[in-house]
Amino acid sequence: MPPELIGRDFVIESFVDGIENGPGAPERLMRITGARGMGKTVMLNELGRIARGHGWVVIDEVASPGFCSRIWERLMPRNQVESLRFQPSILGISFGEVETERASLTLREAMAAQLKGGKGNVLITLDEVQDSSLEEVRALAVAIQQVIGDDLSVAFVFAGLPSMIDRVVNAKALTFLRRAVPEDLAPLFPEDVERSFAETIGASGLAVTSDAIDIMVEAAAGYPFMVQLVGYYGWQAAHKRGSTVLELRDAEQGVVAARRQFDRMVVEPALQNLPPTLLSYLLAMAQDEGRPSKTGAVAVRLDRDLTELSSYRSRLIKENVIQSRTRGEVEFVVPYMADYLNQHRTDLLDEMGN
Ligand SMILES: Nc1ncnc2c1ncn2[C@@H]1O[C@H](COP(=O)(O)OP(=O)(O)OP(=O)(O)O)[C@@H](O)[C@H]1O
Ligand SMILES: [Mg+2]
Repeated sequence: MPPELIGRDFVIESFVDGIENGPGAPERLMRITGARGMGKTVMLNELGRIARGHGWVVIDEVASPGFCSRIWERLMPRNQVESLRFQPSILGISFGEVETERASLTLREAMAAQLKGGKGNVLITLDEVQDSSLEEVRALAVAIQQVIGDDLSVAFVFAGLPSMIDRVVNAKALTFLRRAVPEDLAPLFPEDVERSFAETIGASGLAVTSDAIDIMVEAAAGYPFMVQLVGYYGWQAAHKRGSTVLELRDAEQGVVAARRQFDRMVVEPALQNLPPTLLSYLLAMAQDEGRPSKTGAVAVRLDRDLTELSSYRSRLIKENVIQSRTRGEVEFVVPYMADYLNQHRTDLLDEMGN
């Protein structure tokens, strides 16, 4: 967990409203979206911690195959799981229509048992929902819908990359999930990042100069994972030279190290498996140096038709690499991707065989 969740009070307050206002409160069904590194997982952890503090049973799962079985096992008293383990699986990973219904019913019964006729409370959190099996999500969603319908005290918070909305939330079979209160984790405000740097660096026993904070805030670009990296490497630079003050030079050194790490951990993995056609689209976008690109301008740069390129664009949106917040414009989802592409343009083109 980060020392402090910066700038996310609103999400937390909304969740707390949900658990305090009882069954039927809309915030008991919540979806969290955000780019990689935007803080979805730590948010789920935090909400789980809060719910436990209210005496709730919390089941936190990742939406990889078999999550319905895992949730079910955690709902069941241990002795019953043991005795059922060797029976033909009711919650197997292969999901036909019949299995979904059955899995749903089984989950519903297990939840109802855990909720002891209205005396208990259960929160289920589900992470990485963007690539999950729709059948499994449906089995769980139907069960939760019914338990809520029975006025029992359950809350469900699920999180995923932005592509989760199209693929899962708007899926035909899953209308129930559309009711979930949407929380999109946006970049953090610079003032919040600044305050957090001042507090956390102060708490670590170092003083920090204001010019150092300024460049750290700028380099963090409102991106939580980058905040973490910049703070850590800046602190390390000061610490290594035995200083009690984090100065401009430490901040500068920290930013360089943080950028290197960020490229390795976020930018490169996101680009890794893209085919050359999509990479060339991104390289054309990168000419705008991180500002939003007009799709028309990208087409001109690639000397291609706008309509021809629309499938590239939707693929890249689906892969969570770019987003389109304004009609006719596209932009990178994570910071520094344009920089990276521009810095490695020649190598990338070579690898692509141009
Ligand atoms: N609000 C926040 N304030 C401070 N640090 C944060 C905040 N949100 C996230 N972080 C830090 O940013 C990093 C990334 O967070 P997290 O792993 O939750 O992102 P994510 O959205 O789940 O990413 P992914 O899609 O890759 O799973 C972590 O190191 C986390 O501690
Ligand atoms: Mg995560």
